[in-house]
Amino acid sequence: MSVQEATVFDPIQANDIDAELERSLTNEWDAKIMTYPNERFPFNEWILNRVRMMGFPVEDLSYFHEVVPQAETYRVTKQLCADTNLPEFRRLLNGFVRQVVVPKGKLRQPVAVQRYMNVRIMLPSTPELYFPLHTGLLYGHGIASRSLWMPFVDVTADEDKTRSMQIIPIKKSRELTKYAISNRLTMAGMTEVWGKHAHQIKAGPGSCCLFSQEHIHGSGMPNSTGKTRISMDFRIAEGMYGDLLGRKMPAGYFHLIPDTEEEEERLAKLPPRELQYNNGKQHIFYVANNTSATFCIPVHLQRYMLVDYAEKKKITRDYELFDLEDMLHCPTLLHLVEDRNANIVMYSIFALPEVEADRNHLLETSLKRGNIIHFVNEDLQLVNADDLATIKHYLAFAKFGHSRLPIGLPLSETTRDYFGKWNETVQQYQ
Ligand SMILES: [Fe+2]
Repeated sequence: MSVQEATVFDPIQANDIDAELERSLTNEWDAKIMTYPNERFPFNEWILNRVRMMGFPVEDLSYFHEVVPQAETYRVTKQLCADTNLPEFRRLLNGFVRQVVVPKGKLRQPVAVQRYMNVRIMLPSTPELYFPLHTGLLYGHGIASRSLWMPFVDVTADEDKTRSMQIIPIKKSRELTKYAISNRLTMAGMTEVWGKHAHQIKAGPGSCCLFSQEHIHGSGMPNSTGKTRISMDFRIAEGMYGDLLGRKMPAGYFHLIPDTEEEEERLAKLPPRELQYNNGKQHIFYVANNTSATFCIPVHLQRYMLVDYAEKKKITRDYELFDLEDMLHCPTLLHLVEDRNANIVMYSIFALPEVEADRNHLLETSLKRGNIIHFVNEDLQLVNADDLATIKHYLAFAKFGHSRLPIGLPLSETTRDYFGKWNETVQQYQ
């Protein structure tokens, strides 16, 4: 299905999907090494070229530290992360996901991919900068999200252990995570207890590791090999589990990728978006706490994001309105859309009314009147009918208004405990 066919998007809702998720996580995604044709997907060469284009004549990424000054490494890392959002890289990556990860990882489309890749450079000269062992769930990722770890240098030899990543199989990871929580382990305690069970991932250009948010993984120790490790990691989400992505919401953290090469090609030919933002109208900031996803997000933090967005997009800031708490039909937003002739800058597509008919009325009216709505968290803009389809597609992907949990909350024991405590207080109040 293409991004444009939002109205027929119908994610699988069968009740037994979690049994299938469990099967997948404990098989294809249980810290398995997956091979891929490096000549078709030369990520390592692309990264090497980007480093060279920054003015550092590196020939072998393992010896990056001999060419790039240590003080420059953080800047280079951040630049490489940003570069992974360049159109040429996204096309390479999207093709890789469609042609290799989806079939080998037995995923079902539509899938969404992390917006910016994490590129990591582990120098042999900075022992204090290694990454402690952790799990994705403990970092706010959702149970259904899948991770890929891809080294751009060969770390298959035993002596490469400390520059590779370490990982623990899923069942042992679950046990050890519970142990760490209930015994309130310190970071040093986790490094010691978990470290004993972790094994070296053996991969290099042409192979990568598939794992889940429950796997304990990380460097876990300083790189003492004398060589640099450069790697990339990112996450993928399937639409059928679009409401099981914890705090990493679709559209903000994850971008839907086209299902086919043809659709990718069509989208690549569209004109640059910035050209379409300038319709000569003023911009009204809209902040609210009227949906389950925005209920706990203070408006001053929303406003920080709106201000930052307006500056980046070079759009004016003319006025601001709040919505009325407890009025879930969002009357202020409705008023802005129906009665004012201005563009709206708002926090998120998940700040739109959860009732689909109300939401669609707002979006369609805005489109008809030629007023643009900017959704800051997702960097989405409602300018034309294609945008409307994309926004609807993301909301369907996230099961907005129908999800098992409010969008943006992790499915964990702690969440359940917090809800329990909160519920008790509310009951007493009544
Ligand atoms: Fe991680």
